Amino acid sequence: MSKLQSVRGMHDILPPETARWREMERRIVGALEAYGYQEIRLPLVEHTELFARSIGEVTDIVEKEMYTFEDRNGDSLSLRPEGTAGCVRAGIQHGILHNRQQRLWYAGPMFRHERPQKGRYRQFHQVGVEAFGMTGPDLDAEQILMCARIWRALGVEGLRLELNTLGDPADRRAYRDRLVAYFERHRDALDEDALRRLHTNPLRILDSKNPAMRELIEGAPRVQEYLSEPARTHYEGLKARLEEAGVAYVENSRLVRGLDYYNRTVFEWVTDRLGAQGTVCAGGRYDGLVEQLGGRPTPAAGFAIGLERVAELLPHWDAGRLAAPDAYLVAVGEAAERVAPALAERLRDAVPGLRLVANCGGGGFKAQFKRADRSGAALALVIGEEEAQTHRVTLKPLRAGGEQVRVDEPALVAQLAAQVAARRQENHR
Ligand code: HAM
Repeated sequence: MSKLQSVRGMHDILPPETARWREMERRIVGALEAYGYQEIRLPLVEHTELFARSIGEVTDIVEKEMYTFEDRNGDSLSLRPEGTAGCVRAGIQHGILHNRQQRLWYAGPMFRHERPQKGRYRQFHQVGVEAFGMTGPDLDAEQILMCARIWRALGVEGLRLELNTLGDPADRRAYRDRLVAYFERHRDALDEDALRRLHTNPLRILDSKNPAMRELIEGAPRVQEYLSEPARTHYEGLKARLEEAGVAYVENSRLVRGLDYYNRTVFEWVTDRLGAQGTVCAGGRYDGLVEQLGGRPTPAAGFAIGLERVAELLPHWDAGRLAAPDAYLVAVGEAAERVAPALAERLRDAVPGLRLVANCGGGGFKAQFKRADRSGAALALVIGEEEAQTHRVTLKPLRAGGEQVRVDEPALVAQLAAQVAARRQENHR
């Protein structure tokens, strides 16, 4: 029988790497909460139609990347390829978008059947943000400033903010016509993909990575020339706020995004350190989507961060240290083994946040100390026959130097509390 393996493009995240992920997520969520965003939890599976009607029928995601299946009732369902559609669906379904201002975030796995490579997976994780009911560029600015705060909180440096506007639907229609006319005139220079997109989704041609088409795309009309006055004012308002707040950006009129729901502002945070998969965060405004999915007209904007990509850019956090327990309880001999679980419980009660691994499965001093060392714990707490009888514990530093000492329980509690505080300080908690 062949060996069982995870599905291609879908990865396990093992300890202690999970500790880095937890720390990354904790810092991101901390930043989101600083702006009053609240968590929403959404299903991983939705009706396929939801994605077709929001992301767009003629997008790579819907045309070729979704995990779509029929359930036992014959309904067509899909694993979510992103979170915006489900979030809007939930907002409409529960009536939480109308006459309210909602700031929401979500986190979790997304699924796209793309060709796996470094930074591109079939199951990947996003933290996403969606806000509803606010029309002005102040919201767009807030969300971009939130991103900047997240990068600072994570110590991720060197990201470039790329910014564009797609205008309003009427601007886009006018622009689209001009774009189609332009590409029609240069039909011979279009590759297969562009020909296919020409009448279905011509804006996506601008996003082509084919070097042979670069010059043609460079010469194409720009959306900026077709902006209505309100769309232009919105864009200028956003840029002015970013400048005032000292957030640098690069305007990229070729930035069109791979999902159809956007209007006006679109942005991406990009790094040069991850090769072809350099976009770590992307989003923008989608003022028409709520209505398009059956809700009352509600302006909206959001973004999503790709966690696998951000994890690659984190500064050196020692995952082993982040995951390590504070103490390992060594208990040798019948009396010690009998009192150890109760002692461990009392210590966990007395010291908030304590990470205490109690030896299970017996063993002599040598074997148990070996496990204590391997656990990465800062301290070994040792009970032998004598300690068990005198209600004392021998405390032995495992990582830092220092003598072992025999202490009573109140002194032990104080030492452990100090260790927890030191660990938290070391991990910047
Ligand atoms: P997106 O650009 O499709 O936008 O994805 C956002 C981010 O998710 C990307 O910039 C990237 O970091 C990460 N990502 C996407 N696909 C993969 C993959 N196959 N492997 C690894 N990472 C990936 C959206 O999903 C929108 N829902 C964002 C949004 C929210 N717009 C408004 N609100």
